[in-house]
Amino acid sequence: VAPLKVGIAGLGTVGAEVVRLIETQGRVLAARSGRGIRVVAVTARSKAKKRGIDLRGVEWAKDPMALATHPGIDCFVELMGGAGDPALSAVEAALGAGKSVVTANKALLAKHGLKLAKAAENHGGALNFEAAVGAAIPVIKTLREGLAGTGINRVYGILNGTCNYILTRMEQEGLSFAECLKDAQRLGYAEANPSFDVDGHDTAQKLAILASLAFGTKVAQSAVYVEGISSIAPEDLRAASDLGYRVKLLGVAVRTAKGIEQRVHPTMVPKSSSIAQVMGVTNAVTIDGEGIPPITLVGPGAGGAATASAVVADIADVARGIRANPFGRPIAQLRDTKKAPMERH
Ligand code: NDP
Ligand code: HSE
Repeated sequence: VAPLKVGIAGLGTVGAEVVRLIETQGRVLAARSGRGIRVVAVTARSKAKKRGIDLRGVEWAKDPMALATHPGIDCFVELMGGAGDPALSAVEAALGAGKSVVTANKALLAKHGLKLAKAAENHGGALNFEAAVGAAIPVIKTLREGLAGTGINRVYGILNGTCNYILTRMEQEGLSFAECLKDAQRLGYAEANPSFDVDGHDTAQKLAILASLAFGTKVAQSAVYVEGISSIAPEDLRAASDLGYRVKLLGVAVRTAKGIEQRVHPTMVPKSSSIAQVMGVTNAVTIDGEGIPPITLVGPGAGGAATASAVVADIADVARGIRANPFGRPIAQLRDTKKAPMERH
């Protein structure tokens, strides 16, 4: 069988790690996928930048659009980020050309997911985005395929590694918000614009994607109430601790009689609760299904290696010919999101 030919746009924290993983795990991936996976072309802003990866024999495409429509690739991997261009046009072009797309870009999916899923549906390519929520945690697959037959009432958790890392270090080491954020950036956890992390928008984008999969509704980032952590100081965390609580940035989506309630805000959780034990860059997602006890998935929520593992798993699914509906069901069956008023839980 011919190898799956992959083009990768974006060779930063995640993209460079994806190239490395495909290179080092080639045999394992081929055995699991039944065919090889070959990176044939890449692109990024700077061709000259040293990235510590071997790109010998790999074509450098002149820009993301040229790569997305490259006749020699079967699968376009978008790892540039951003809800607009060049990511949007390139992904649309790749899907329009009948190629499969793998992306980790939650900003793009939260804003244009429906349009992109329609393009995938119309042209026959896959649109896989496991890495967009919870990095290495297989939460998209769990909601989309594993729990496809289960009614879901609530999905919630810690969805941003940067914020949880900052809150953990502020609490444990008494460091300032600014110092912790700097470290999160250095470690490759934060978004290119870290205000997406600390102001809660990244969590809101991920929550909107999870809510769509959980409730069979259209992705609606604008329906999410958002509050971030940037005004939290070490003394706030100490005060919470004195009362027996820890502060976590939670994303919560609940099905109510009035519609879907989606909210992101710092929350005081009892220190004895399991969610309070989730520390550092770790994420945790709990799914409350009908007739089954809650399922919680916990794992590394950001960083090059964790994210690349999910991207490569998505590429391997494309190689194996697995093609799920991006949002769990045909687009025509996704209902409009009725926004429920905020209630206390
Ligand atoms: P980086 O900023 O490290 O890398 C972005 C890459 O995209 C760089 O190689 C950059 O080129 C390239 N790029 C940016 N703009 C353009 C452009 N206009 N044309 C061509 N190339 C461009 O980001 P990350 O790797 O951290 O993130 C990539 C995606 O993965 C984002 O959508 C992010 O939200 C998502 N993600 C990231 C996670 C993480 O932990 N880092 C976790 C989960 C998802 P150059 O290097 O030349 O500047
Ligand atoms: N900036 C994101 C985070 C990356 O810190 O969670 C993972 O999506």
